[in-house]
Amino acid sequence: MIKNDLFLRALKGETVNRPPVWMMRQAGRYLPEFMAIREKYDFFTRCRTPELASEITVQPIRRYGMDAAILFSDILVIPQAMNIEVQMKPNFGPYLPNPVRTSDDVERVCIPDVTVELDYVYKAIEATKELLNNDIPLIGFAGSPWTILCYCVQGQGSKTFDKAKAFCFTNPIAAHTLLQKITDTTIAYLKEKVKAGCNALQIFDSWGGMLSPTDYQEFSWRYINQIIEALKDDAPVIAFGKGCWFALHTMAQSNASALGIDWTCSARNARYLTGGNMTLQGNFDPARLLSPPMEIKKMVTQMINEFGKDKYIVNLGHGILPNVPLDNAKAFIDAVKEYNA
Ligand code: CP3
Repeated sequence: MIKNDLFLRALKGETVNRPPVWMMRQAGRYLPEFMAIREKYDFFTRCRTPELASEITVQPIRRYGMDAAILFSDILVIPQAMNIEVQMKPNFGPYLPNPVRTSDDVERVCIPDVTVELDYVYKAIEATKELLNNDIPLIGFAGSPWTILCYCVQGQGSKTFDKAKAFCFTNPIAAHTLLQKITDTTIAYLKEKVKAGCNALQIFDSWGGMLSPTDYQEFSWRYINQIIEALKDDAPVIAFGKGCWFALHTMAQSNASALGIDWTCSARNARYLTGGNMTLQGNFDPARLLSPPMEIKKMVTQMINEFGKDKYIVNLGHGILPNVPLDNAKAFIDAVKEYNA
């Protein structure tokens, strides 16, 4: 059905001529055509208007021809739907004026009817599928319950997420109640995303690496694994935990179709920790896209050689930076397409 199914084949572990490529946060940020839309509409208007979200999703595909598209949206639409106010402040990032800090606050957090509250997301998926014309697969995503809790409790981005951690460590019962509410909402939401047309799913655990290995299992992985188990028969699921190399061995025992790797873990170590049989995705240092294009191409070829062309999806180790020159992003994608085993 999908003309270029390299990405889906890599997720199944099939043999391919070259690995597929896409870039985390490829929609938005660094493209002039995105900045033009951004000047006219605020962030959540862009998310909530299917014509805008779908257009932003396909912009990088038109320019570079990645092997998969990722829907323009945000992980914080989930707390919004759960009746927690989320603002996106220019030059600041997410801001939640009424953070969740007590057991009573947790009780007030609702589990929404996702078919109603997040209806605009499914409409954006349908609009995007039309624009993509079955050329490449569309990835849907959600934040991990732990990463969502971080924002709900901290109320904004943070280098330490100290308030979020203090909440979990002083009030674990309330923390687990909140994590379970987020998990249940996320499962229902992702099922609807697949129904609307997403061909694969990625869970972003952007702040999993803030936790110790033991706390990671208790406050993050447990819930990610619930999501994987609930979705595994609906669509392939990629679990990306930034800074979570210490958990790769456990993650590799799950029913995830692939694991995301950040740039602090070598290909060799990632293959070793995951037992050599799992599809891995990553892990180019996003800042390395600031190197000259020729050097980027050399490094990408070397990265593919290290991971191996099979059971591998070329990506960055985290989201693309806003200041990456257009030719450098192109060099990254082209190097993969020109790869000869
Ligand atoms: O490819 C894509 O960009 C798809 C859409 C996408 C966005 N956010 C759009 C966005 C995705 C996949 C996300 C995920 C997301 N959002 C994560 C997990 C991935 C990661 O990078 O770790 C997190 C932690 C968030 C929360 C968030 N949203 C932050 C911290 C910020 C501000 C800083 C930033 O990243 O620019 C946002 C805003 C946001 N989400 C922007 C975009 C394009 C920039 C703001 C704007 O366009 O006005």
